[in-house]
Amino acid sequence: MRLETIAVHAGHEVDAATGAVAPAIHPSTTFERAPDGAYPRGHLYSRNSNPNRSALEACLAALEGGAAAAAFASGSAATSAVFQALAPGDHVVAPTDAYHGTLRLLRETFARWGLATTFVDMTEPGRVAEAVRPATKLVWVETPSNPLWKVVDLGAVAGIARRAGALLVCDNTTATPVLQSPFRHGADLVLHAATKYLNGHGDVMGGAVVARDPDGLFARVRAVQASGGAVPSSFDCWLTLRGIRTLPLRVRAHSAHALAVAEFLARHPRVEAVHYPGLATHPGHAVAARQMSGFGGMLSFEVRGGREAAMAVAARVRLVTRATSFGGTESLIEHRASIEGPGTRTPEGLLRLSVGLEHPDDLIADLDQALRDGDSDR
Ligand SMILES: Cc1ncc(COP(=O)(O)O)c(C=O)c1O
Repeated sequence: MRLETIAVHAGHEVDAATGAVAPAIHPSTTFERAPDGAYPRGHLYSRNSNPNRSALEACLAALEGGAAAAAFASGSAATSAVFQALAPGDHVVAPTDAYHGTLRLLRETFARWGLATTFVDMTEPGRVAEAVRPATKLVWVETPSNPLWKVVDLGAVAGIARRAGALLVCDNTTATPVLQSPFRHGADLVLHAATKYLNGHGDVMGGAVVARDPDGLFARVRAVQASGGAVPSSFDCWLTLRGIRTLPLRVRAHSAHALAVAEFLARHPRVEAVHYPGLATHPGHAVAARQMSGFGGMLSFEVRGGREAAMAVAARVRLVTRATSFGGTESLIEHRASIEGPGTRTPEGLLRLSVGLEHPDDLIADLDQALRDGDSDR
């Protein structure tokens, strides 16, 4: 079946007891045992499993073409579960450009847990080959990567990881399964912040790990999920599954709108650089065109004049909202360096834009007035 059909139907059955077509929400934390002590209906306690979570996990596995999925209370909880599934002394190769929270987890939390990490620029796969060691158990990729939308050649890095005896994890949050299928390029696990496009409406925190092989490292991720308990509520699972029903339509619209906005910004005299893999000028464009079926709804642009000029543009938008996060229906703009804080490598003049589902002409008009007003300020 094609992705649109999977998005609508996976993890969904008409309720046998009532005939309800839309799924029910099961807030129950516990489930009845049979007289013989067994659990014939499959659920025991909601930290271990819950009907809404199982439905979401089945849908996520189907969307990515994986064997199994584990849903978490946030993307970062899912990320942590992957690292917790490793053992102290293991080595990880991670990108220099990636979601700053993931990099902070590796630098601060998991360095203390005994994981050693080497950070490399993965746009050059040779750097990954140089970084792997006998203790390397995991190569972490995020592509396109937040906030510069750098593109990593998944097939090339997967080959290096395989030869090193390490597993490849791909954070597919930005591309989503609509635009990129990491398992087809050799990834072993796929990571999602469901907070973003999967739920898609800015009203749920969620995360997931999807596995090609349900055993091995994923079995330990599943154990961390049940014993650590960073699980999403049944309502959040229900909302995320509802969001996924329209995922393919939304992501294609986000992509089309982002391309239109990126092309406008690339022509604007007050814009120094536009980071969007859909532009032919982007260094990762050729790889993105090969491994993705669209370029996504996220872009960043650098305003001439650095931090002050960028902050002033963000202050002047009227339709776009100044807020962090991405992947929702409404467009968001963010001065990224100030949210990432000390030690950030993000350029001070950079604004990150989550291009929403508003008409792109209205977004362009808003950005145009925000950039133009700046001319009269000078
Ligand atoms: C690419 C990526 N991965 C993971 C995360 C973490 O997700 P969450 O905020 O749900 O913990 C984020 C958050 O922005 C992200 O952008």
